[in-house]
Amino acid sequence: MSQPTQQSVKLTGWGRYAPSQVLSNADLERMVDTSDEWIVSRTGIRERRVAAAHETTASMGAVAALRAIHTAGLQPEDIDIIILATLTPDYWMPSTAALVKEAIGNTKAFAFDVMAACSGFVYGYATASAYIQAGLAKHALVIGAELLTRFLDYTDRSTCILFGDGAGAVVLSASDEPVSPVGIELTTEPQGAYMIWLPAGGSKSPPSPETIARGEHKIRMEGRETYRFATRTLASTALAAVGKAGWTQDDVDLIIPHQANVRIIEAVAKGLDLPMDKLYVNLDKYGNTSAASVPIALAEAVNEGRVDVGDRIVFVAFGAGFTSGAVAMEWTADPARGRTADDAVRPEDVTVRAPIDWDSVDPIPPALAEILARPLPLPAELDLSDVVPGEPELVHQPTR
Ligand code: UT7
Repeated sequence: MSQPTQQSVKLTGWGRYAPSQVLSNADLERMVDTSDEWIVSRTGIRERRVAAAHETTASMGAVAALRAIHTAGLQPEDIDIIILATLTPDYWMPSTAALVKEAIGNTKAFAFDVMAACSGFVYGYATASAYIQAGLAKHALVIGAELLTRFLDYTDRSTCILFGDGAGAVVLSASDEPVSPVGIELTTEPQGAYMIWLPAGGSKSPPSPETIARGEHKIRMEGRETYRFATRTLASTALAAVGKAGWTQDDVDLIIPHQANVRIIEAVAKGLDLPMDKLYVNLDKYGNTSAASVPIALAEAVNEGRVDVGDRIVFVAFGAGFTSGAVAMEWTADPARGRTADDAVRPEDVTVRAPIDWDSVDPIPPALAEILARPLPLPAELDLSDVVPGEPELVHQPTR
């Protein structure tokens, strides 16, 4: 009996979306007992983005998805399967992927969410690849989208400084051309189950006045344990994927790691004996966007010219569960294709249908609303305290 042949898979599209509102370390200094110096030296994060009240995980995911579809040169209707990774869905049901399907104007795809926390995008990528390889789909959309700022405890300085909002997406397509081997590694270690968790709201502890009073609808984390897991696992998961692709780490041109903490990324570089310029970092601008972190970083790395056709790249993530995942693949798409996507798809043109006769509460946490409503502080060097009305002082004296 002949072996069934596997359909080849290529990454053909990529796109990202970040909300425009910036929450800086200086803003956080006004909310909790922290400092820009502490946050930058311990994490590398300088600012993160916050979704506006009208935005949701689905709306951000839909913008990133349409940009990825544009980059792939496809129409939304060409997509056969939509997988959306998130730990902050719009609702418990339906899936956020279903909302995105309608928002992008696709009628034929089957759509579902995957939940593997910050590793979710890599898990979704692996799932979509398997569907295409099996001949069950031609074009798959994989989205990582998160609206974490609505699930943070703004009295807990060890977590609220880390996370931000955003979305990234890729399109995977069946290809008739031969494709270099792709290495995929996924791991799950449930002994880490309660290291990063959101205690209430599920069937174990349904929402109640008590769970709200106890702050159990916000993310909790054992930072040091998570840090230990991350530094141990990211390098080994990346290496396993590299091995499955048939390479050694010296063959790798660029690693796109989960953007959680620059010290974790430095530890991965050390563990793999690679210089830091082989690891892409953009967490200074976005903080940790969980499942959106890798696809946002991937899209930015490619659009910034860090990836060429033929480059061997690895993306690798870790997260609650504990989970980890890595994909090692040779880049084949023209990097220039993604650079027009932001202008081609404007967020204001993308709508997620709202339910009839139902108004959600104001979704912005009060602590954040207060900070975001503030007039912008004057730059420190501009001391206007002793400025009095009168004749302006001439900088250049007129020539006589
Ligand atoms: O996607 C996965 C998500 N999670 C992660 O990636 C988290 C991984 N862990 C980390 O990135 C780091 O553990 C943190 C950034 C969370 C914390 O850094 P750390 O170097 O491990 O600090 P620590 O928890 O050991 O805390 C050191 C000190 C403590 O004070 P004491 O007990 O030494 O007096 C904390 O209370 O720093 C204090 N601290 C802060 N100080 C100022 C904790 N958070 C802050 C803060 N500002 N925001």
